[in-house]
Amino acid sequence: MHNKIQDSVILITGGAGFIGSYVVEELLRSNPAKIIILDNLIRGSFDNMGSFIENPVVEFVKGDIRDTALLEKCIASADYVFHMAALRINACAANPREGFDVMLKSTFELAELCVKHKVKKVIYSSSASVYGLAQHFPTPETDNPYDNQTFYGGAKQWGEQLFRSYRFMHGLDYVALRYFNVYGARMDTDGKYTEVMIRWLDCIRDGNAPLIYGDGSTTMDFVYVRDVAKANVAALCSVVTDEVFNVGNCEETSLKQLLEVILKVNNSSLIPEFREENTVNPVSRRLADNSKAKRLLDFQPTVSLEEGLIELSQWYSEKKKTTALSL
Ligand SMILES: NC(=O)c1ccc[n+]([C@@H]2O[C@H](COP(=O)([O-])OP(=O)(O)OC[C@H]3O[C@@H](n4cnc5c(N)ncnc54)[C@H](O)[C@@H]3O)[C@@H](O)[C@H]2O)c1
Repeated sequence: MHNKIQDSVILITGGAGFIGSYVVEELLRSNPAKIIILDNLIRGSFDNMGSFIENPVVEFVKGDIRDTALLEKCIASADYVFHMAALRINACAANPREGFDVMLKSTFELAELCVKHKVKKVIYSSSASVYGLAQHFPTPETDNPYDNQTFYGGAKQWGEQLFRSYRFMHGLDYVALRYFNVYGARMDTDGKYTEVMIRWLDCIRDGNAPLIYGDGSTTMDFVYVRDVAKANVAALCSVVTDEVFNVGNCEETSLKQLLEVILKVNNSSLIPEFREENTVNPVSRRLADNSKAKRLLDFQPTVSLEEGLIELSQWYSEKKKTTALSL
């Protein structure tokens, strides 16, 4: 199944980011001719690319997908494209105009260029945000997207529809993947929009009470990043086209339960404190139905929440030690 990768040139926009860097590692197992990473490093890093940046098969291009001439240079020789560069949900809310340029305009240019240069397939990183608060739990792909209230979710939904229309008008093959809550080693630890798990690991290390925004009943479906990378490669290698798939772990975990597991795997007995909820993403429940991905892509997540949190905690503690030593 991996012979599509062997000897192919593959572009990954956002390949220096959290999920993108794992996709690169997964692809490298199958001997691609070349992997081009286009990333402006607004969130990605050389640390994320540590395991492959010296690999002669990998070409890192520091640049912006809004630079259409540069984007064209990167796409011109590509057989396949993973389109992962994007702004985070809060960044889109804080600056919708930039969100428009990165998420909509650049994705449009990318689709145009993929047609022009006869790219064989695009794998588009969409998001469970397209559902807003879903109607059904577990949520199948057929749930309607009209309850989304975020710019980010709207942009991802538009991206899916853009690729659908380009498949219909131009025959451009694509698969869109709606990731649920992705976590794992290399997730952002010190950016403006650091995830709750990292903030709690900081609290555990410093002996401070972990903060829960809201009453802790909000649920998410946490899927480990290596599983998400596997779903991307399965989407590329399968014959499936013009389809969208959920990528979750199919387990519903409340913030309170998540904290319990993090405390457990770190042998901590800290008591949480509760604070008023933030309102950028007003979604109280998430739970994926992955059965379509299982059926058509042969994809199933393999990492349990506890295993994933152990791996994340170990990675973060090592990272903190290394940073402290280098100061
Ligand atoms: N992490 C999640 O839980 C999650 C959930 C659903 C969907 N997604 C989607 O998956 C994809 C990857 O997410 P991630 O978690 O790895 O995020 P990330 O921020 O770590 O990765 C995105 C990468 O894109 C780069 N980038 C951003 N704007 C760019 C631009 N204008 N030009 C070039 N590069 C640019 C960033 O530097 C970063 O390396 C994104 O499309 C994201 O929307 C992520």
